[in-house]
Amino acid sequence: TKEPIRIVITGAAGQIAYSLIHQICNGDVFGKDQPVILHLLDITPMMGVLQGVVMEIEDTSLPLVKGAIPTDSEETAFKDVDVALFVGAMPRKEGMERKDLLNANVKIFKSQGTALDKFAKKSVKVLVVGNPANTNCYILAHYAPSIPRENFSCLTRLDHNRAKAQIANRLKVSPENVKNVIIWGNHSSTQFPDVRSATVNVNGKDTPVYDAIKDDNWLKNDFISTVQKRGAAVIAARKLSSAMSAAKAICDHMRDWWNGTKDNEWVSMGVISDGSYDIEKGLVFSYPIQIKDGKISIVQGLKIDDWSREMIEKTQKELVEEKNDAVKATTSD
Ligand code: NAI
Repeated sequence: TKEPIRIVITGAAGQIAYSLIHQICNGDVFGKDQPVILHLLDITPMMGVLQGVVMEIEDTSLPLVKGAIPTDSEETAFKDVDVALFVGAMPRKEGMERKDLLNANVKIFKSQGTALDKFAKKSVKVLVVGNPANTNCYILAHYAPSIPRENFSCLTRLDHNRAKAQIANRLKVSPENVKNVIIWGNHSSTQFPDVRSATVNVNGKDTPVYDAIKDDNWLKNDFISTVQKRGAAVIAARKLSSAMSAAKAICDHMRDWWNGTKDNEWVSMGVISDGSYDIEKGLVFSYPIQIKDGKISIVQGLKIDDWSREMIEKTQKELVEEKNDAVKATTSD
């Protein structure tokens, strides 16, 4: 039998965590033979609620769970973890300026990055979900310099899954038939959902999405804005932000990182840029990603036409500004 792995979930008393924990405990992410110990971090006022979550974890009676540790201490949370899921962040409150939100999150991710650096295993795989996800990941990585750069990522898999679903829906096929969509850039409304190199399997044959849909106008306009604004549409309808689909996307992201991607297929992940596709080095940018033996690589050599280049530039510009503001905030206190 395998040794248990330690997984920290921050924001563990929140709504995404509530959907996520069961899938991890059930072996849906790290395997049906992989025991887990959960470290559940939230802020002090949420310790009562978190206790309730721990009671429910116990009540699932799932055999892979070897422990669930609720805590408001960063040391306890990050001690010896193999996987770190940063779901918690400061939510945007009414009347809050973008700058205030950024400042609050910079504080959180500076402090948690420092603790991650000090207490986690150096091999820890990091996924940042809490918004602004790319920039929070940038700050976290900055304050955890002893952890390899390739161990940091942020979540754009939900956007990726949304893009797949929109294409599948339009063609009335199952989403699993749609391959190689890409989310470029920021997890925000400037992201570029790109289906230029995506294919869809119709009647047993892989066809480029552009040929299958035969409606460039829809692909360049409605499709893109629907994916870009999907998060806001869910909030408007549900009065709460996406949680079930976000938790599912976190599981997809980590499962692929753990097990690898399929041959000739890629997924979207925010990673620390190595300059690929002329993106600023060091920026946390969503790219097409392949994974083999736990190693992440950015898919190279995809053709980028002028229109796509412009879309990529737009989201890069927003991210650079966001990152610069965040860096300014780290020095302002
Ligand atoms: P939520 O508000 O239900 O839960 C967040 C939890 O984080 C709360 O329990 C809160 O107390 C906790 N928290 C706040 N500051 C913390 C800190 N410093 N340390 C530890 N815990 C802390 O929010 P929900 O719905 O679970 O969403 C979590 C985050 O995920 C939000 O920032 C949301 O915007 C983001 N999100 C990102 C997506 C993505 O695709 N990247 C998709 C959906 C949501």
